[in-house]
Amino acid sequence: MDNQQLITRRKNSLINGAHHFYDRPLHLVRGSGVWLWDDNGKQYLDCYNNVASVGHCHPQVVAALSDQASLLNTHTRYLHSHIVEASEALIAKMPFGLDAVCFVCTGTEANDLAVQIARRVTGHFGILVTESSYHGNSALVRQLSTCNVPLHERESFVGVFEPPNIYRNPYQKTGQALNTAFLGSVDGAIAQLADGGHGTAAVMMDVSYDSNGILNPPKGYIQGVAQRVRRAGGLVIMDEVQAGYARLGSHFWGFEREGITPDIVTVGKPMGAGHPVAAVIIQRRIMDMLQNDPHFHYFNTFGGNPVSALAAKTVLQILDEENLMQNALTTGAYLHERLMALQNNFESIGDIQGSGLFWGIDLVKNPQTKEPFTPDMNKRITSRLAEKGVLIASTGRYGNVLKIRPPLVFKPEHVDLAVQAIHDTLIELHHP
Ligand SMILES: Cc1ncc(COP(=O)(O)O)c(C=O)c1O
Repeated sequence: MDNQQLITRRKNSLINGAHHFYDRPLHLVRGSGVWLWDDNGKQYLDCYNNVASVGHCHPQVVAALSDQASLLNTHTRYLHSHIVEASEALIAKMPFGLDAVCFVCTGTEANDLAVQIARRVTGHFGILVTESSYHGNSALVRQLSTCNVPLHERESFVGVFEPPNIYRNPYQKTGQALNTAFLGSVDGAIAQLADGGHGTAAVMMDVSYDSNGILNPPKGYIQGVAQRVRRAGGLVIMDEVQAGYARLGSHFWGFEREGITPDIVTVGKPMGAGHPVAAVIIQRRIMDMLQNDPHFHYFNTFGGNPVSALAAKTVLQILDEENLMQNALTTGAYLHERLMALQNNFESIGDIQGSGLFWGIDLVKNPQTKEPFTPDMNKRITSRLAEKGVLIASTGRYGNVLKIRPPLVFKPEHVDLAVQAIHDTLIELHHP
């Protein structure tokens, strides 16, 4: 089937089949490490995909998947060592107390289950999220993905607060006063949930703030959020689908960087290197409450099956064996340095935030007003970059933030290629 046929048949047979990342749809056929190849043999540097965080088609993952698939694949109601070992390996990465795991298949399912648990154990109904959040797409979790829900469709159980974007600061304050203003927005959302009779069951946060445009919140901010939520009788759910698994370089989990221990953690994307496996990890005291609850029961047919569990265990092993967190830290520091140097040369680069191997470049039409590029302007940039063989996409509240989130096997020579391509593209498209 040629690409034109693929495009047409995809459009005719798939919901959202007309949606493509780039102006010229890519037809990828092969991957290895940080590299991808299309149907014409053209090579692309992957600066975007965190699912293959140990590198595309890592041989140990491929072997684990195919060996176990040829031996047995059932579900979690039978005894099997892989599921126990995968749970233990995940718990070993967690702080003390977070030690009960439930495997599911997607980040959405993990967040859905986390909300069910929080509601069950607190007796409250309301959930707090940031404006422009993304946590998944089930009927429940879609409501918590405010980036996709227009104001008039929002349910009253969703309490929305301002993301802590120091650059696009809506309060005209700095330092501690700014932190207090951001936290005031959380207080407002908690009060709104109380007034609506929902109470606060939990806050759900992605501390990389991917959908918000990749942010570095003020120091102490997340501790302040956690304090307020717990005071209101709610739990802290950390959605580590993006920030976890060594992505931020300095710590294995985003919440560790922020100095808090959540009540519930959800993980997904990089967990199975492309194989669909995700999980919810909860505190033992919550587990005890659920075990005494005759009406709480959860079973997931595919979650944690022997193939998924082995994939999950293997990915954790590779992260350690190949020291990928250290690589995220050192290569990430070099990437940051190169991006800061790039910013010095371009007025259109308003701001750079991020850490480890997760960075956002906030593009602006005017550095004084900070008016963001339109999503179309960003798409032209990412499409041109794809033509040059560098894969990047956009994110953020205004769709104007270039998002760099490569596999964790990214090295300084890849940084050089990516930064040079961004430099050349901004010049070519007249964005000085
Ligand atoms: C922070 C965050 N949470 C949850 C999800 C949903 O994960 P999934 O697509 O596996 O359902 C995503 C997906 O992009 C995400 O970025």
